[in-house]
Amino acid sequence: MIKIWSEREIAIMRKCGRTVAKLLETLREAVRPGVSTGELDRLAEAFLLEHGVRPAFKGYRGYPATICTSVNEQVVHGLPGERVLREGDIISIDVGACLDGYFSDAAMTFPVGEVDGTARRLLEVCQGALWAAIRRCIPGNHLSDISHTIQRYVESRGYSVVRDYAGHGIGTKIHDEPQIPNYGPPGQGPRLRPGMVLAIEPMVNVGTWEVMTMPDGWTVVTRDGKLSAHFEHVVAITDNGAEVLTLG
Ligand code: MF3
Ligand code: CO
Repeated sequence: MIKIWSEREIAIMRKCGRTVAKLLETLREAVRPGVSTGELDRLAEAFLLEHGVRPAFKGYRGYPATICTSVNEQVVHGLPGERVLREGDIISIDVGACLDGYFSDAAMTFPVGEVDGTARRLLEVCQGALWAAIRRCIPGNHLSDISHTIQRYVESRGYSVVRDYAGHGIGTKIHDEPQIPNYGPPGQGPRLRPGMVLAIEPMVNVGTWEVMTMPDGWTVVTRDGKLSAHFEHVVAITDNGAEVLTLG
């Protein structure tokens, strides 16, 4: 069952999402050669607490940090630490937050200084896939129209979509029903209805879609070591289409 949230509840998620978006804009400025992923994590934790929201990932299934920092071939769930960013890297930063029991979750991939054309195009394709999917979030469309839109957008441009991780419903839990795979046929699953709130999050690879988890138990990397990107927004379905709740 996909929950239908009230306008009051969505207003709280909007407030939480706006703080997450502002943090991502702050992190975009902080990302530069010489900064460590641990410093970004400390900045993120301080920012969220100052804005009155709780970091949602910390302690989730034992996750030790406020953000996930996934560099280059790292796909998701990269652990912040001593690693220092270098010119030409890309870094995916994923943030979860909770306000008054309601969650938000968003991710972006940033270039570190000047990056090459392969990296630039990857970021464009991943972000383009997310926005193509958001445009499909209208009442009456099927859940799998989101999945199909992402797969078609990405694969028609010569990139691959990660199969092992998916988008998800979100509300009073960070991961709620339904699962939203980033691939699949159109026209399947429940129809979208006003009041549903969904986290849509394509993970896009330059090479193979296959991934594996590193021995730290968290960091997911591409099997071929090629670059990966991740963009995520939370959207509320309304009568007029999608309202993105994770915009500044
Ligand atoms: N941000 C991930 C998602 O979008 C969840 C991260 S879980 C954590 O579903 F354990 F890494 F915190
Ligand atoms: Co998510």
